[in-house]
Amino acid sequence: MNIDLIKQKSGIIGESDGIKQVLEMVGQVANVDISVLINGESGTGKELVSKAIHLGSKRSLKELVVVNCGAIPEGIIESELFGHKKGAYTDASDTRKGYFETADNGTIFLDEIGDMPLETQVKVLRVLESGEFMRVGDSKTKKTDVRVIAATNKDLGKLVKEGKFRQDLYYRLKTVTINIPPLRERKNDIRLLVDRFALQFSRTNNIKYKGFTPEAIKTMHQFSWPGNIRELRNFVESILILQKGERITADMIENQLLDEDDTQIKNDSLPVVINRDPDQAERELILRQLLYLRQDIEELKLMMKESNFSELNSMRNINPNFDSTIQNNEIISQNDNLIKGDVIGAFNTKDLEKEMIIRTLEHFNNNRRAAAKSLDMSERTLYRKINDYGIEKKIKKTH
Ligand SMILES: Nc1ncnc2c1ncn2[C@@H]1O[C@H](COP(=O)(O)OP(=O)(O)OP(=O)(O)O)[C@@H](O)[C@H]1O
Ligand SMILES: [Mg+2]
Repeated sequence: MNIDLIKQKSGIIGESDGIKQVLEMVGQVANVDISVLINGESGTGKELVSKAIHLGSKRSLKELVVVNCGAIPEGIIESELFGHKKGAYTDASDTRKGYFETADNGTIFLDEIGDMPLETQVKVLRVLESGEFMRVGDSKTKKTDVRVIAATNKDLGKLVKEGKFRQDLYYRLKTVTINIPPLRERKNDIRLLVDRFALQFSRTNNIKYKGFTPEAIKTMHQFSWPGNIRELRNFVESILILQKGERITADMIENQLLDEDDTQIKNDSLPVVINRDPDQAERELILRQLLYLRQDIEELKLMMKESNFSELNSMRNINPNFDSTIQNNEIISQNDNLIKGDVIGAFNTKDLEKEMIIRTLEHFNNNRRAAAKSLDMSERTLYRKINDYGIEKKIKKTH
């Protein structure tokens, strides 16, 4: 299929060499019934490319079933993928079809394949090789005719070396690999993407749109866009809300980027999803208070460290037992990266923060901008922490 047709059908935008290569690959493999592995950072368009492949194949009239392997709890992933028989386990009151059966004659998109448990990988390999699978709790083999497209932002080769991904499945999948370059390596797509997103957003929300100045676009070239196209889209949408109906200038872009970079984001107009049950909301509130408490303690400690030691010396003169008090404090502080309490158990600051970030991202439907604002940190800090804690994929919604 030719590139223009693929673009038209899938909505993929871009003129850069990077995206052209991706589109050429899609054109070459779409109509060949072979599994495909898509590699790319978060927000680079992996799901969109899988859609393009499906739409360009002879299976396009059948379903494209999207499964986020990272979001399904390990305990139920096999029943989700392959279905289960009535009575297979306590909650299985009905026989149920799995995604592989639903996708019969169509395509299945296994997103975050790197997060799939090893035992499940064996079963997926079997489907890939023979089309055969079994529902959980069943002893009859079933058949399905499914094309598999898998995606990951992880280095599967590395996971194989670490024993976290099966080598046989890796070899089977990687024959056709499409690497989607990050946005910072195809910056000349920014203008096209910005135009499209701005037009779409202003139309659906009835906002006046007077365009971006060429300098504004140039300024956007200077940012590294760690969240790639998704981040760019969010950025465009929030700047249109903030600068209601104005032509967007380089200054506006810079201010907005700086705002996010430094301290707080001053954007209160972003949509917020509030659909938590009261219990959950309360737990989150407590967790958040703990995090703040911990941050306060850390600040206090720092202040104490920096305070003048002469003060301590004068205390020594007044109170001869002062040194033993300090020693006690030191013993306590050996464990002070833990917050302790009967109710909450022992919490490591990092665990606490990680947990807080995961929950906040979930709460805001993975909208990082809103999450960063709510967590009172810059979006860039949030990105870094997401990377540091390796949270990336576990927070995505199941399809
Ligand atoms: N080349 C592109 N042209 C137009 N829109 C794009 C392009 N690439 C990505 N998008 C849009 O950016 C958003 C993110 O894309 P997508 O969900 O496919 O990324 P992803 O790689 O699957 O991200 P993640 O790893 O976070 O799941 C979507 O709204 C998608 O439509
Ligand atoms: Mg995705």
